[in-house]
Amino acid sequence: MVENGATSSHVLVIGSGGAGVRAAIEAAEHGSVVLLSKTIAGKGGCTPMAEGGYNAVLREEDDPSLHAADTLKGGAYLNDPALVEALVHEAPDRVRELVAWGAVFDVAPGGGVAQRPFGGQQRPRTCYAGDRTGHEMMVTLMDRLAATDVRVVHECAAVELLLDEGRCAGAAALNRDGELGVFLADAVVLATGGGTQVYDISTNSASGTGDGYALGYRAGAELIDMEMVQFHPTGAIQPYDARGRLVTEAVRGEGGRLLNSLGERFMSRYDPERMELSTRDVVARAIATEILEGRGTERGGVWLDVTHLPPEQVEERLPIMLEQFLAYGVDIRKEPMEVAPTAHHIMGGLRITPGCATTVPGLFAAGECSGGVHGANRLGGNALAETQVFGRRAGRSAGLEPERRREVTPAIDRQLGALRRRFDDYLDGEVPPHSVVKRLKLTMWEGAGIFRDHEGLARALAGVEALRNERLRATTRRNLLECCTAENQCLLASLICRAGLLRPECRGAHTRRDPTCELPPDRSPYGHTFLSLASEGIEEVRT
Ligand code: FUM
Repeated sequence: MVENGATSSHVLVIGSGGAGVRAAIEAAEHGSVVLLSKTIAGKGGCTPMAEGGYNAVLREEDDPSLHAADTLKGGAYLNDPALVEALVHEAPDRVRELVAWGAVFDVAPGGGVAQRPFGGQQRPRTCYAGDRTGHEMMVTLMDRLAATDVRVVHECAAVELLLDEGRCAGAAALNRDGELGVFLADAVVLATGGGTQVYDISTNSASGTGDGYALGYRAGAELIDMEMVQFHPTGAIQPYDARGRLVTEAVRGEGGRLLNSLGERFMSRYDPERMELSTRDVVARAIATEILEGRGTERGGVWLDVTHLPPEQVEERLPIMLEQFLAYGVDIRKEPMEVAPTAHHIMGGLRITPGCATTVPGLFAAGECSGGVHGANRLGGNALAETQVFGRRAGRSAGLEPERRREVTPAIDRQLGALRRRFDDYLDGEVPPHSVVKRLKLTMWEGAGIFRDHEGLARALAGVEALRNERLRATTRRNLLECCTAENQCLLASLICRAGLLRPECRGAHTRRDPTCELPPDRSPYGHTFLSLASEGIEEVRT
């Protein structure tokens, strides 16, 4: 596999979460595959941390058309309908496949995979393994991966996509020691997950730094709807070190109630029909409003209560929540949880076709780093399904790409030269990357959070651009990756703010306090925002 000092394979998959591993498994049917993981593969990223579940139509009383209708309505009709069709029709086969590969989901009393209600859905459609669904999936996928010839490169992060004659021809990557590696391939799949670590309070693991958005953008790919950032309604607020940690929607799916400091079940004011099982954008805004209007707890949250449920239900269906809160000194069988919104998911991302092709030839994308499936707001449970449906599609599309001459061409050599000069600048720089990232997170939380307006977004963008101009410092080669990551995070933040400024309406998760368009989402004149090196703007679709 190693030619002229470069590692070469038919397909290179970047990212080792649910989408990346599923893509690699599929691509391996078509030729040699290298899987690059910036963490220990299978241990990092968001999939193993995903608690609540996986949406799939599995029973007669449900139907893919209902799943599609819920997904489109929940997404405020900004979703790409072709991607939604793929999701709802293939999610069932992909979960059955996981079960066949050994995943142990909870079983319904009458047999078959158990399903619980999640927000914004007309049927209980969310398959689960207690409240550690993503972990169960990831363990299963890693077992399956081990049975293939995929070469897994652990702790090696892609820092730039390599282009040759307008095609993506591989990636440059840094290992833990700061050594530069070159990975050439006939096709590349980006599956790097999300990036809400650009916010001060986030559910994402430390590796949720949005590298894929930055890599894709710098390679010339078009990104859509980057302003659409989901704030999960319920993150832990104490102890301080656990701020933002996910308190799964499954808590509300099991019957959990949201209460303000006056003891009011306040969702009756915001969505009396769906109450706690409204969509996440609505619930997060409701909680934020209660807190802003002075009906929050002393520590700045609201209460999420399951004390009315039988203790056995909590123990069996929410064991991780029980354990997590016991560690915080709260027995959720007897006391309510204190929660507040936390940055969770980026609905925007690289524009893809249903075959996961991006706008750059040879480059495919799947999972959270791609955009279009979820529109302006994602339904809980649709992300794990997305990883499997589109991971498989991306792996297949990449695998079907023709073989090419894989070599370090003069064009690639020039890119490597530019990268080495960038590293020299870091080694000669001034500002530690963690200092930049810390200020970035506060800037984004302040100006590009749940409630937005032009002035705040513009101020945040100016702050982000000022941070991008600071000269990052790597004290040794081992810190080069930290600098690259900070640079990616700053670029991602800039894309979110720029896209936010482009959309003058309230839509899904993008709540402008100063909208200049107030039509309901199904009659909005606006389609996707788009950003690429070549141009940026907002699509006008209807009047
Ligand atoms: O609340 C949760 O368990 C998260 C699920 C999701 O984001 O899909």
